Amino acid sequence: MKAYRACLLWFAPHSEGPARALLEEDGLLVVGPNAAGVQVVQAVGAYRDVAGRYPDVPVEHFPGRIIAPGFVDLHTHYPQTNVIGSPAEGLLPWLEYYTFPEEKRFAAPDYCAQAATFFIAELLRNGVTTAFAFATSHPASVDALFSAAQARHLRLVTGLCLMDRHAPAELLNQPVAGAAADATEQSLLDSEALIQRWHGQGRLGYAITPRFAPTSTDAQLRGAGALAARYPDVWVQSHVAENRQEIAWARTLFPASRSYLATYADFGLMRPRALYAHCIHFDDDDRALMRDTGAAAAVSPTSNLFLGSGFFDYAGADRAGFAYGLASDVGAGTSFSPFHTMLGAYYVGREGQTKPGVSLRPQQLWWQHTAGAARAAGLDGVVGNLLPGCEADFVVLNPQATPLLARKTALAANLDELLFALIVLGDDRVVERTVISQAF
Ligand code: GUN
Ligand code: ZN
Repeated sequence: MKAYRACLLWFAPHSEGPARALLEEDGLLVVGPNAAGVQVVQAVGAYRDVAGRYPDVPVEHFPGRIIAPGFVDLHTHYPQTNVIGSPAEGLLPWLEYYTFPEEKRFAAPDYCAQAATFFIAELLRNGVTTAFAFATSHPASVDALFSAAQARHLRLVTGLCLMDRHAPAELLNQPVAGAAADATEQSLLDSEALIQRWHGQGRLGYAITPRFAPTSTDAQLRGAGALAARYPDVWVQSHVAENRQEIAWARTLFPASRSYLATYADFGLMRPRALYAHCIHFDDDDRALMRDTGAAAAVSPTSNLFLGSGFFDYAGADRAGFAYGLASDVGAGTSFSPFHTMLGAYYVGREGQTKPGVSLRPQQLWWQHTAGAARAAGLDGVVGNLLPGCEADFVVLNPQATPLLARKTALAANLDELLFALIVLGDDRVVERTVISQAF
């Protein structure tokens, strides 16, 4: 067992109201193994209340620092680290001119290995301890990312990118020489083999990953849906309703479905643990479909602002009551930093604001990138919070990391002002240490 003394930030259980942050100025976080040997939070609270119950546990003290849950990134792309900051008219030219050419390089296992190592290190440096990531359509790119995450104990979910049409030939799923299966069948066999190799190994999880409906045939989407039904605790991840041209294209390819989103439902790809990036251009039937199927949105504000895709409708999502959380969406997203993503979400929340007020409150923004994101992904009580039983992933934040932050956070009169100063002025410099639950 080990204990950490600092200012503590965490969230009340969701049953006590959404996004209710708790702050303990002189707190103690006690960490130790559970019955399965996993390092979890044993106790959290005021130092004066908790310390006496653990007299023999060594305490590491972080004066002037804030310990907070590790961040949960609901959607990102490891092969797109080098694509960050590539401007284009919109999504489809961006894919064609920048993203697909870079993803082709992942045919080489060495290229995958170095990109994966860098990507995982960058997540941790930014305080992200759980990530849902795309790989490429090369099975070895998936192995490389899982291996790199395993080496650093990150909780990571990824999967083989399914694309059997409408992409450059080198990026389409490939048949195996001499095997009977065609490319589409092979992509599903490869996905299943990867599930068996990696899903549930320590902190790793598999996601069935059709890139987006336009780059899959009906047969591939149908097969992906069948796989999702056979493996209910595996995740599903894809993109939807990001861009007007993309939507028009998807509608011509799948005219029998009521909407672009409904295409995924029609192929059995909407259920709990299905994460859809963007979810911008929805109508109320789409929102109801998200809620009724238990799928969740990965809201990617820096990506949507960068590509000019549009603005996630927070009020619409809340009205319907479907789940969502925040995502960097690197490399259309512009930053690995959860602080930048939370600030982007604040800007996006301003757009289409229907009630008077100040967009999203800082506690809501922070929750959407920690406990709320975990809840959206079916990991409530597992990660994203410091309640007893949660895996012991946390960040040590320095509110004085820059002269301006020191000046501004010293003026904070309450929790909202403190969190807002960190969200607006913070970045990787604030994250002094990322501590990961180690015993896997
Ligand atoms: N839609 C399909 N592929 C992608 C991708 O790589 N990034 C984004 N932002 N949208 C997509
Ligand atoms: Zn994406």
